[in-house]
Amino acid sequence: MDPHTNKAQALKEQILGLVQEYYQVAHEKPAFVPGQSRVPYAGRVYDAREMTLLADSALDFWLTAGPYADRFERRMRQFFGCRDFLLVNSGSSANLLMLSTLCAPGLARELGGESLPPLAPGDEVITPAVTFPTTVAPILQNRLVPVFVDCEVGTYNINPRLIEDAIGPRTRAIFVPHTLGNPCDMEIITEVARRRGLWLLEDGCDALGATFNGQLAGTFGQMSSLSFYPAHHITMGEGGGIAINGFGLQKTARSVRDWGRDCWCDPGKSNTCGTRFGWQCGELPCGYDHKYVYSNIGYNLKVTDLQAAIGLAQTEKLEAFIAARRRNFQRLFQGLLAHEDYLILPKIDRRANPSPFAFPITVRPGVDRNRLVRHLEDAQIETRLVFGGNIVRQPGFLNIEKRVHGDLTASDTIMRDTFFIGVYPGLTAEMLDYVLDTFRDFFAVGRKQRSEPTQQVVTLI
Ligand SMILES: Cc1ncc(COP(=O)(O)O)c(C=O)c1O
Repeated sequence: MDPHTNKAQALKEQILGLVQEYYQVAHEKPAFVPGQSRVPYAGRVYDAREMTLLADSALDFWLTAGPYADRFERRMRQFFGCRDFLLVNSGSSANLLMLSTLCAPGLARELGGESLPPLAPGDEVITPAVTFPTTVAPILQNRLVPVFVDCEVGTYNINPRLIEDAIGPRTRAIFVPHTLGNPCDMEIITEVARRRGLWLLEDGCDALGATFNGQLAGTFGQMSSLSFYPAHHITMGEGGGIAINGFGLQKTARSVRDWGRDCWCDPGKSNTCGTRFGWQCGELPCGYDHKYVYSNIGYNLKVTDLQAAIGLAQTEKLEAFIAARRRNFQRLFQGLLAHEDYLILPKIDRRANPSPFAFPITVRPGVDRNRLVRHLEDAQIETRLVFGGNIVRQPGFLNIEKRVHGDLTASDTIMRDTFFIGVYPGLTAEMLDYVLDTFRDFFAVGRKQRSEPTQQVVTLI
């Protein structure tokens, strides 16, 4: 090693040592004070390792997706046992990438003759009405038509028994989120998709590590998405990814993620194919630089290596995170059983092993959800609603082109009566017991008082 490299290495070690020290001093967790400290529904759980890898990546200054992104993708490929895993900059981008891949002009060439055909404008995608907005948005952005199907109170997933009846002449795909980490009934859904010749996509953003019949959520469909936003099982600040299980999708998905290009060189690399100036593509002059050949209408959805460095450190904790989420979920479940006369607790299929994102609760008739939520929030316990509720009632979605299958009664109930609280690994037993005490206080007061309406209504025009 030359003296310069030696010096740089020594300085780096010094800096990374200081980062660890800094973490100990600056990121020390304050003690929990019931009633005063917030009990968040989610949050980043990290230690000096995340900060060290982030600093290491910053010092390397590669910036765009590079060595850490490669390592992260490899880890996730191993985790899922999938054909490929592509890192992107959010869960929303991951959903966009999956739908755009199925609609990409270059896809037909990559798929074998046996495969399902690519999607075309006007084709329908079956999806639940209770969902996240950017699970539906890429359907619309690709000029496809969502077919909304009702959900189930308790699992908060699509009602699997309604899917087959919802299929129409233009239906080509099913796209299901595993809501809050509780996997959908993948036995029914994969069977319907296979028998009726439909693409199957999973939104696994909330469900990293969940299984159904012992199989990981995210490995049933041809593709599945993940989010690495701080509320999710592992984080890199902003981030997401797709697991590719199906045949013939990798090249197109990579292309759509990376500007729509035909070239598959890693960032900063040239001539991976060895014939960079030897291609004849479309109507381009012969030998046109392959780096600038675009076989798809793409985006730039890549992450930075700094994000991937944080993500890589998080993967080392993934199993422990999932175990903690399951433990916390169980503690809440056992504690809330006492209030089952008032609350509908989560329903878990005996074939499912959720990797809980949160703990959903639906109030029974006579209990005012908003009053209970206010009681918890006043006690510093953070709550959230199930994302967009019945998405067709959201202002931005009122006039979208869509088909609604049957009625959406359960989805409306979820929108009106359901909320969730946290189970993330940052919650301690002390915090969870405080949450349970706070529920107990609420149900100790008169039922009449609980159900008096209190809303202030703001009309959005
Ligand atoms: C089910 C689901 N899909 C998609 C997303 C979008 O992920 P991101 O926030 O990373 O864009 C989320 C985010 O919470 C989600 O819960």
